[in-house]
Amino acid sequence: MRLDKLLANSGYGSRKEVKALLKQGAVSVEGVPVKDPALHVDPESREVTVFGDPVDYREFIYLMMNKPPGVISATEDTRDRTVVDLLPYEYRRFKPFPVGRLDKDTEGLLLITNDGKLSHELLSPKKHVGKTYYAVIDGEVTDADGEAFRAGVTLDDGYVTKPAELNILRSGPESEIELTITEGKFHQVKRMFEARDKRVTYLKRLTMGPLELDPDLANGEWRELSEEELSELKNR
Ligand code: URA
Repeated sequence: MRLDKLLANSGYGSRKEVKALLKQGAVSVEGVPVKDPALHVDPESREVTVFGDPVDYREFIYLMMNKPPGVISATEDTRDRTVVDLLPYEYRRFKPFPVGRLDKDTEGLLLITNDGKLSHELLSPKKHVGKTYYAVIDGEVTDADGEAFRAGVTLDDGYVTKPAELNILRSGPESEIELTITEGKFHQVKRMFEARDKRVTYLKRLTMGPLELDPDLANGEWRELSEEELSELKNR
């Protein structure tokens, strides 16, 4: 790959800005300063540095975040902080975006990547990717709710949900449950409980397909996916 393209792809600015960096002598290949933007380098095997720092050349990043409440699942917002705002520049420069959305008050597993193809596959309704949520419900959740969710409930806009699996962890005036759905309609879990005259008071996503939220991640923390997690996600 051309050196100027490699540097531009790696977040060192436009081709023009990269040319200026090269002209200054800021860029070295294997320790030797290089000024030729057209030089071909293999980013996998030759070490390229800018001001002495190795260039982290890769096309895609894959992060798992434990989304905190109060933050928007978007790349930018005029009012609120977004999940992408929580990342340092070394990741933001890859222009990542969240795969799907969690409501502002929802917590938990959010995949953040710049791999549009993977994102598309995970969100495609045809792929039926299961997502499991933990929720606290104002109201007594019973087996009748489980049966209703398995059969499909009618939401406020008339949409009938696909079969979902309810696991009741605790049932009482306030209940705790896990619910696995394979679609992602707007406010889906909250609206499914509304269809049963019950209210979600706390919602956290635990899984997305084979990916499970790392229990070591506190609210707002994130880490890169392991190679194993990534290959499970891609080969699901
Ligand atoms: N269902 C909801 O109601 N909200 C979310 O954030 C995710 C699923």
